[in-house]
Amino acid sequence: MRDVAVIGVGLTKFGELWDKSFRQLIAEAGSKAILDANIEGKDIDALYVGSMSSGRFVDQEHIGALVAEVSGFSHLHIPATRVEGACASGSLAVREGYLSIASGMNDIVVVGGIEKMNDVGGTAATEILATASDQEWEAFFGATFPAIYAMIATRHMHDYGTTKEQLAQVAVKNHANGALNPYAQYQSPISLESVLKATTVAYPLGLMDCSPVSDGAASIILCAADKAKNYTDKPVKIIGSGQASDTLSLHGRRDICTLDATVYAAKMAYKQANLTPKDISFAEVHDCFTIAEICAIEDLGFVKKGEGGKAIDQKITTLDGSLPVNTSGGLKAKGHPVGATGVAQIIEVTLQLRGEAGKRQIKDPKKGLAHNVGGSGATCVVHILEAM
Ligand code: COA
Repeated sequence: MRDVAVIGVGLTKFGELWDKSFRQLIAEAGSKAILDANIEGKDIDALYVGSMSSGRFVDQEHIGALVAEVSGFSHLHIPATRVEGACASGSLAVREGYLSIASGMNDIVVVGGIEKMNDVGGTAATEILATASDQEWEAFFGATFPAIYAMIATRHMHDYGTTKEQLAQVAVKNHANGALNPYAQYQSPISLESVLKATTVAYPLGLMDCSPVSDGAASIILCAADKAKNYTDKPVKIIGSGQASDTLSLHGRRDICTLDATVYAAKMAYKQANLTPKDISFAEVHDCFTIAEICAIEDLGFVKKGEGGKAIDQKITTLDGSLPVNTSGGLKAKGHPVGATGVAQIIEVTLQLRGEAGKRQIKDPKKGLAHNVGGSGATCVVHILEAM
């Protein structure tokens, strides 16, 4: 396989973007990435876009070709493919683009992720998101994603003594990081007390334990690594790519506190990169709910199972800790436009490795990991990157 590098990135602000259309978001993220990579339409061999449910959120399917059209590339007839895997759609698109270059088929690929969730309102957004859970055994009985992750949290508290305060500290940390990110949906720090006092959504998760409903788009340009320096002097190489699946329903899992899809995807990525979890200097992980970040740092092997809460107490994962996690603000504060999230995570890792993360720049970033989950753990994608 050939090595693959990220040579350009482009992001819209995440949030409630009432003044921007679906197309405008795609155009903004895509054109920023293309300019950043210093490429032209004729250089592009293929386009992959991740979106979970554009058909239900904005009544628009068939968005592979739409993205090509909006980007002004229709006349070039570039192969354009939409990829779907719930909230992991974006990183699945990254992986498809990566594989197409690694295989030798393509040299330069545009990868995008998009979701515009607010147009339908909160209740419909919750219903649409729940289509990624098990319809027969979960959604039919009224279980929403906050409820499903609340079950994981309750079990984690029971098995490992994890506390509501530890969950809340994840939100406090990620809002503190989001406050340093001009693209984040929420750019204000929050107190532990305000998280603990927030309205309960599904016990033990309150409003501030949840990622929000978001609009946004993200785009990256991937290139065969041996050609990357023709376009940029700061390419970032993908040194590991892993993907795994598991049951859609929670009850099908051997242990509801362990996302085996994460364990297996991470194993694949670590093996390819010839690294262990100890070699990772920072990570963007899928914190759709605060408990999800605690499970993620355990399942990625950064800490032992059950010790995620303790690691939060010890401030290991803060911006100046030994393993900064979710420097962007994570899904919790940066926002979670589901199809865009996986691509945006790669952008944050790339910016950190390029030394361009502004006020949230960490010291000496060497190897960055991005972890993106679909549903409650049925799909997981892990990428590891380093500066070239
Ligand atoms: N974090 C922080 N603030 C939030 C928030 C969140 N997750 N969600 C909403 N808010 C804020 C809003 O900005 C608003 O503030 P304002 O009054 O100052 O404008 C206020 O809280 C009320 O917002 P509203 O949109 O009425 O909230 P809601 O009750 O409709 O929705 C949730 C709150 C938590 C239910 C919703 O954000 C949600 O469903 N999140 C989970 C999304 C999800 O499941 N994603 C997939 C994961 S697998």
